[in-house]
Amino acid sequence: MKTLTLTRPDDWHLHLRDGALLAQAAPFSACRFGRALVMPNLKPPVTTVAAALAYRDRILKAVPPDCGFTPYFSLYLTENTAPAEIARAAAEPCVLGFKLYPAGATTHSDAGVRRLEAVYPLLEAMEELGVVLQVHGEVTDPDIDIFDREAVFIERELVPLRRRFPDLKIVLEHVTTAEGVAFVQQSPPQVAATITPQHLRYNRNALLAGGIRPHYYCLPVLKREKHRQALLAAATSGSPKFFLGTDSAPHPRPAKENACGCAGCFTAPLALEMYAEVFEHAGALDRLEDFASGFGADFYGLPRNREKVRLLRKSWEVPQTLGGEIPLVPLRAGETLPWRLHDA
Ligand code: NCD
Ligand code: ZN
Repeated sequence: MKTLTLTRPDDWHLHLRDGALLAQAAPFSACRFGRALVMPNLKPPVTTVAAALAYRDRILKAVPPDCGFTPYFSLYLTENTAPAEIARAAAEPCVLGFKLYPAGATTHSDAGVRRLEAVYPLLEAMEELGVVLQVHGEVTDPDIDIFDREAVFIERELVPLRRRFPDLKIVLEHVTTAEGVAFVQQSPPQVAATITPQHLRYNRNALLAGGIRPHYYCLPVLKREKHRQALLAAATSGSPKFFLGTDSAPHPRPAKENACGCAGCFTAPLALEMYAEVFEHAGALDRLEDFASGFGADFYGLPRNREKVRLLRKSWEVPQTLGGEIPLVPLRAGETLPWRLHDA
């Protein structure tokens, strides 16, 4: 059987939730990935180092202790973030940055930033202290078509922001467009992007053709094929600016299969396998390890993991639902995947 040995991967964009959902979802990530950058869009949002440290305790209680999983945090940037919080974040090793959510852009983003100018002093402090800005790159202007919101955000907000704060470290989270890829490629090395498995594997037909499939709905929404091609080229290019971030974002089944369904794909149980599938299909399996286990750690100035994991070319079926009391439907439920993580 064909096998692929990789340095244990990390997930640089992950939603772990809280309470019962955290307990149910977290083990899927913790047993696969060595580290993760955990997103702060809880209710209430994780806006301070103190809140992140308390959240870390809850996460560590929710994961099997023998997994050797280390969570890192992105704090939720608001117009009311205290300047002193930037300094506290810079001094706390488990906090890797602040997340910019344009208000209203996605799940639990109402506490986000309405006017970018309002956070300029905070961005200046981050630039000075080397604190990374993780960006949800979509405008929320209702006049802008949802498929154009990333490209318009780049043009209206991100390009001017980069000019104003040239040394600020930026990660364009879950990049989904050719424009996003070009922006990152044309920027200096302190600008990078994460790429999800669903945006590498699917275009918007998966969501909308032949019936509406709510488990394929996430934000930013799946785009046209030409954008998927641009993402695939970037991920398999060997450029250290593009690295793994699953954006695994579980919602209870009734919240997904709903007349107004929530955005977010639950991919943690199959994400690594999906990346292997797309890299293999692109003839780039030899580039998977840097993308999944190298470039993200390098970007954040952390050592690469030392443990190894093994992927087997052994097909398996993704379960219809996963978990216990809260029904969770993974992406690709009932489908067969060609790669499987050994001992998962
Ligand atoms: C995320 C969630 O559910 O928290 N949803 C999503 O569609 N990606 C939020 C986010 O990252 O935008
Ligand atoms: Zn996300």
